[in-house]
Amino acid sequence: MRVAVPKETAAGERRVALVPETVSKLTSSGFEIRVERGAGESAGFPDADYEAAGGELADADGLLVGANAVARVARPSPEEVAKMASGTVLIGFLQPLTDADGIARLREQGVVAFAMESIPRITRAQSMDALSSQATVAGYKAVLLAADRVPKLFPMLMTAAGTIAPVRALVIGAGVAGLQAIATARRLGAVVSGFDVRPAVKEQVESLGAAFLDLGVSTEETEGGYARELTPEEQERQQAALEQRIPDFDVVVTTAAVPGRPAPKLIPATAVERMRPGSVIVDLAAETGGNCELTVPGEIVEHRGVTIDGTTNLPSLMAFHASQLYSRNVAALLQHLAPNGDLKLDWDDEITAGACVTRAETGT
Ligand code: NAI
Repeated sequence: MRVAVPKETAAGERRVALVPETVSKLTSSGFEIRVERGAGESAGFPDADYEAAGGELADADGLLVGANAVARVARPSPEEVAKMASGTVLIGFLQPLTDADGIARLREQGVVAFAMESIPRITRAQSMDALSSQATVAGYKAVLLAADRVPKLFPMLMTAAGTIAPVRALVIGAGVAGLQAIATARRLGAVVSGFDVRPAVKEQVESLGAAFLDLGVSTEETEGGYARELTPEEQERQQAALEQRIPDFDVVVTTAAVPGRPAPKLIPATAVERMRPGSVIVDLAAETGGNCELTVPGEIVEHRGVTIDGTTNLPSLMAFHASQLYSRNVAALLQHLAPNGDLKLDWDDEITAGACVTRAETGT
């Protein structure tokens, strides 16, 4: 199986789908890997390392000639899709729940597309779970962004000039990103609280040394461990409870998400106005509209002395390790779809069928 790795073209995307480490593993297990020149540069992986790992370098024009599969991070542009031959396997974050036009385009082109977002969250597929690997990176980085902005030291310090109280941090949404944010804030010395609507998470929050904030709202888990969307009444109750508690915190990291839906609005402007000047909100849900009413996706704004950081695509800011983890997820999927490099798509398999979003053979 010949796999092409393009240089990402989405604005601000620094990651690469395969890094030299995995190219080496894949080439020794029957894959041929062709990498676009410069594809790994912005993530810290020079062309020479790909060559040393057994990859072949190619220019953009020749990259897809004869390729059976394309491995990417972000979804391809319409021009890139137009260059893919019918039957080509595509792997990447394809946004199947929100980009209907993009998925239709892939289907029309006859591409057999696998969305990393659609990999079932079952034990057997954990090594392919790119949502988790990238959320881990994002949760870590979110706390660093907050630490960089907040005009306070995170840890309690006892100095000759007296004692400094630690930063109080709140993490809302304790899924994969939230739990990593809690762990990172704790490591920096903050006093941390966590909140999630899934009651099962309380124990996980506490096991990381954080307190579970009880806002009096909870919901059951759906299949795959996700939260159900709150009803408007529940959401209102949550906002009101949060508004009471939020002035206690210097740093708030929000990660609340419901797959395929706009991010739940948890922090109204009135709650932000109750926070002390200098406080920081990092909104990891900015990409899907944000958990804070004042979040501007892709921007850092200030409202009455409170910073609201809506930077999107945090994993791209940690491109080296984000790519390394993502690359292992992609390699695990490639090896699943093509054991020993021979493409064998088993549509009765839960992972193959679950991750596939367009299928050339049936036109679905
Ligand atoms: P996510 O990114 O979709 O959501 C982040 C968090 O926001 C979730 O914990 C969710 O409960 C929470 N949330 C939703 N609405 C909220 C609200 N109104 N207020 C506060 N919090 C709210 O979820 P993520 O992090 O991708 O995964 C969620 C869970 O999925 C994991 O904790 C785990 O239980 C399960 N999972 C299972 C895996 C497996 O079995 N292989 C792998 C990864 C995750």
